[in-house]
Parts: sequence; C-alpha cells; structure tokens
Amino acid sequence: MSKKFSQPHLLGIKDITRDDIELVFETADNFKAIINRPIKKVPSLRDVTVANIFFENSTRTRISFELAQKRLSADIVNLTASSSSVSKGETLIDTVNNILAMKVDMVVMRHPAPGACQFLAKHVDAQIINAGDGTHEHPTQALLDAYSIREKLGDVKGKKIVIVGDITHSRVALSNIYCLKKLGAEVMVCGPTTLIPKHIESIGVKVEHDLMKALNWCDVANMLRIQLERQDIKYFPSLREYSMLYGLNKERLDKLNKEIVIMHPGPINRGVEITSDVADSAHSIILDQVENGVATRMAVMYLLAGQKG
Ligand code: CP
Repeated sequence: MSKKFSQPHLLGIKDITRDDIELVFETADNFKAIINRPIKKVPSLRDVTVANIFFENSTRTRISFELAQKRLSADIVNLTASSSSVSKGETLIDTVNNILAMKVDMVVMRHPAPGACQFLAKHVDAQIINAGDGTHEHPTQALLDAYSIREKLGDVKGKKIVIVGDITHSRVALSNIYCLKKLGAEVMVCGPTTLIPKHIESIGVKVEHDLMKALNWCDVANMLRIQLERQDIKYFPSLREYSMLYGLNKERLDKLNKEIVIMHPGPINRGVEITSDVADSAHSIILDQVENGVATRMAVMYLLAGQKG
C-alpha cells in the first residue's frame, strides 16, 4: 500500500508526523530529479485548481508555489490583498468562499494573523496550505530547510542546528524547531534576551546568547532576518549594535576550528544578520534552499491532492 500524508491540510509542522516529513522528502527527491530534466512538467495535478492568496508580501514563497503548481500542471489563480475586495471590507471567509464557488480545490494562503489558516480550514471546503501566518508557522519553509540540511549533510538526525536572531517574531524559527526536533536534530536558538521567547526551552531547544559559543557548538547556522515590521517596540539599541553582536561575518567564521553550513530563509538584510562574503560563500546553501523549495512544495501539494483520490 502506498504511503499517505496524515493530514488533509498543511497548517503547521506541529500537526504532522515524522513519517509525513520523511514522505515529503522522498517525494521531493523524485520531483527534484524531474525539474532538473529538459521536460520539467508532469500531469500529476492536471485536474486540480489552486488559489494562491497572499495578504502579505512574498517573493520566494509565492513564486516557488506558483512554479511548483505549473510543474505539476495545476490550474492557478492568484490573489493579493491590495488587489482583492478585502480592502473594501469583505471578510476572509467570504473572500475564500467566493473563490471556492468557482471550483477551487486547494488554497495556499499567507496572512499576517497567526491562526488564519487554521480558521480557514475549519470554515471552508478546500485543502489549505499555510504559506506563513504572522508570527506562528511557515511549514513549507521548515520542510525545505530540513530537506536542504539532509541533502548537504546526508541526514538531519543527530545534527546540531542553531537558529540565530529574531526568534520571537519568526514563524520560520517555530516551524524549523518543530521539524528539526521531529527529525532527531539538536536545536539551539541564539540572540539577544529580548528576541528569545521566555520558556522556549520547554519545547526542547537550548538557548545561547553568545554567538561565538553557538557557532562553535553547531553544524549548521540558520541566520534569521530582524523582523522590524513586526516589532512594535525597540528590542535592541540599533541595527549596528545587533550586527556587532549577532551578525555573521567572515572574521567570526575564520575563528572557528571547523566548517559549518550557513542557511538563511530570505529575504536577507545584507550587512545586518549576515555579510555578503558569508552569504555568497561556499559555506552558504541559501540558493539551494530556494531551489529545494520548488520540489518540496510540489511534494506537499501532490501528497495532499492524493488524499482525495
Ligand atoms: N522565506 C520567505 O518566506 O520568503 P518570502 O517572504 O519572500 O516568501
């Protein structure tokens, strides 16, 4: 019997199992081979219509989902907040139900409110994929990040991964923590006290405020952007001071007595959390993460659509 994804939606990594994650990886391996062939398209989602609804800005996630849908031969409609009737006062459920009335099967949604995708999944009759909901989760980012670690280091289990920066406001951090822990990695978060949530140790991560100690501990450093757009108060004195204490630069990497893998989910603030010479160095797998996003998202949509068969 072929393996199936355990959930009807992908709302967060918290809800899925280790088997689900491994199934996504195995499926993504096949799709990665396909999208590197001269003919990159397969008919797997030929009868599926997907709506990409983005109420927040996005470059990577939006293009990656759309390319993944095109490679799978799905029909696609795209909606952004600025071009939708939400700006005229329409509710989220009305907006989505109107789209579904036009026979849409799957909705990929990014929304600034944590829990917006869970809410939608309860109230509309379509499969929902969370493309980032506020400070809550960004599950496909975590899947592509873990897939990229597996590709680079052979396995995620037993690897030491530090997530550096604005953990408090980061949906990428939370989804990565759930995903990496489920796969058996050791996870540390590093940043100023003000940007690390209190009691985060309770979900099984270590906390370190000294970047050099964290870098000496880890196999992989995932550098996060400071999410100024989500910060209602000042969490540190200045970007210059943040960069001096928590920015990854070549000088810091040269002081380590080992090589580590550098990741970043993007968008990068060059010169703040990471310098260009590190972001563009041989240690960095930032563009591999972007490439793997397409295969990973193809796998997620293929597996979800397969549940209806
Ligand atoms: N990593 C990520 O979610 O990037 P975008 O905001 O550009 O989609």
